[in-house]
Amino acid sequence: MNTSFQTQLASQIKAHKGAGTLKELRHLDAPMSAHTQMREAGGEVVVLSSNNYLGLANHPHVVSSAKSALEKYGNGTASVRFICGTMTIHEELEDKLAAFHATESCITYPSCWSANTGLFATICKPGDVLLSDELNHASIIDGCRLVSKAVKRDVYKHSDMMDLEAKLKASMDAPNRFVVTDGVFSMEGDIANLPELVRLCKAYNAVLIVDDCHGVGVLGKTGKGIIEHFGLEGQVDIITGTVGKALGGAAGGYICGSKELTQLLVQNSRPHLFSNAISPATAGGTIGALEALEKEPELMDKLHDNVKQMRDGLNALGFKPLDGESAIIPIIVGETSLAIEMADDMLKKGFFVTGFGFPVVPEGAARLRIQMSAALSTLDISHALDALSVIGKKHGLL
Ligand SMILES: Cc1ncc(COP(=O)(O)O)c(C=O)c1O
Repeated sequence: MNTSFQTQLASQIKAHKGAGTLKELRHLDAPMSAHTQMREAGGEVVVLSSNNYLGLANHPHVVSSAKSALEKYGNGTASVRFICGTMTIHEELEDKLAAFHATESCITYPSCWSANTGLFATICKPGDVLLSDELNHASIIDGCRLVSKAVKRDVYKHSDMMDLEAKLKASMDAPNRFVVTDGVFSMEGDIANLPELVRLCKAYNAVLIVDDCHGVGVLGKTGKGIIEHFGLEGQVDIITGTVGKALGGAAGGYICGSKELTQLLVQNSRPHLFSNAISPATAGGTIGALEALEKEPELMDKLHDNVKQMRDGLNALGFKPLDGESAIIPIIVGETSLAIEMADDMLKKGFFVTGFGFPVVPEGAARLRIQMSAALSTLDISHALDALSVIGKKHGLL
């Protein structure tokens, strides 16, 4: 063991502890649901911090679809797909996801992180321009960093369509312009201005890429995400997404677009070439989640009712959550240590909510990020509001 390196690691951890910013993992001993069992809480907690938007992570149809796939296909492909093959269950899921997003084709990845990090380096060529919203998810930021040095990368101010237009105008000499945005911004909960993004990309002949990880199962009448929300079917070139949030909660991601796009990704996208396929159980479970969403549209209604109850309740108490229509409801508290302390206090009262601080969000803009799920009951939410009221008063926010 290299002792000087170990000493450096220990001093970094000590610094986090000293600043009150050390993140500690919580341990669950039951499925992800509205209520789960948490070791640190000594028993049951109400979950206000998961992306289990539709409550499908432990839905009986999702679990039985995952089990059937596991029994039929075993645990995995035992290598990357181009070496060991694609199972019928992967193909079935990709067809279903392509149909869901009304695109020609879909290709799955071990996560949306790897989808985003495998996309841009494959499609952007020397001389092209890649424009990214400043609040895009870390996986998009890292994916953009992996493009060739001969691709010009630039960041436009968050949802600032004038800034984007100026950058598009300035790049008309480039062979291609790519614009990438989150559909729902994960730390703010706000929705991208898709109508204007579509208009600008048409006007300046740019390729539009939307990561709809937090929009699927949340936005649109039937949960198809931001594109359905704005009625802009067929207007977005490339959609990236996850199966790890509303669509059942397992690890897996995907890219939807044209047949040529997914074919090219199979040739050159490094996470696809060099990383294993999603597990058959995940593929089966996600198919089950898509079926559940189709058969139980009332899940969307319940999620929206829960978002409204939480937002109205927070505003009535005097919290000022960031505005938005998504299932992400952030309350800005300021310092990272305060966000962590408030989350700890909530846990003592039996509510699991996460405090986010620097470097996940900018310094001084730490927050409690409350997330709604269709699995939560009206009573769960009113009890959570009671607890938030006590904690908010204790810390001088109310
Ligand atoms: C907007 C966005 N994109 C990508 C990801 C990564 O998804 P995955 O968990 O499938 O890697 C996340 C996850 O938090 C996300 O919020």
